[in-house]
Amino acid sequence: MTSLFVSEQRPQDDAEIDQLLDLTFGIARRTKTSYRLREGNVAAKALSLTVREEGFGIAGSISFWPLLIGEAQTPAILLGPLAVHPEKQSRGIGKILLQESLSRAQEMRHKLVLLIGDAPYYLRAGFTYVPTGQIDMPGPVDPTRLLYLELVAGAMSAAYGLALPPFRWRDINALRAATSH
Ligand SMILES: CC(C)(COP(=O)(O)OP(=O)(O)OC[C@H]1O[C@@H](n2cnc3c(N)ncnc32)[C@H](O)[C@@H]1OP(=O)(O)O)[C@@H](O)C(=O)NCCC(=O)NCCS
Repeated sequence: MTSLFVSEQRPQDDAEIDQLLDLTFGIARRTKTSYRLREGNVAAKALSLTVREEGFGIAGSISFWPLLIGEAQTPAILLGPLAVHPEKQSRGIGKILLQESLSRAQEMRHKLVLLIGDAPYYLRAGFTYVPTGQIDMPGPVDPTRLLYLELVAGAMSAAYGLALPPFRWRDINALRAATSH
């Protein structure tokens, strides 16, 4: 049995993680709406993890990104990408990454997790479909792939409207303040 090590992503892991993501999702991944929510955003460091396998390198990775939703600017975190190297899939690495990161998120008092991904995989981990029209994204999203998980019961009821990275809402708020007089 080979040893697996879970650790926080480090800047020096970026190139290896990028290669892993190109391998699992293809290079067209960068055109997806979820990337609009990541560009210019800063990953949630303590939640963005890798699994290393002895003698192999990074076998899987997961990242999270802060978001604010709607005019109420309700905080949430966007899960993704979650990727496991094709040679290492179906050995529980995805499950380890999900369980460890979500348990950390709960400890850190995050309340709500969103993701755009394969429902059959994430429904098994406790995620649910976002009700149609409740959350808008800055690009097209297949509603059957837009999912959420409450880390605090009822958190989803405060999340209505457009999801954007915090810096985009700061820009919007500043523009509104500047044009309101
Ligand atoms: C999806 C992914 C992260 C799962 O990680 P993993 O380490 O392979 O998964 P686990 O070992 O934790 O779980 C394996 C189980 O998930 C199932 N599974 C894997 N990918 C799935 C998918 N896209 N949809 C539904 N079920 C899936 C497997 O069939 C397996 O089922 P079983 O336990 O009944 O045999 C990984 O397979 C991956 O990176 N895939 C390529 C990218 C991708 O398709 N991502 C889709 C999510 S956005």
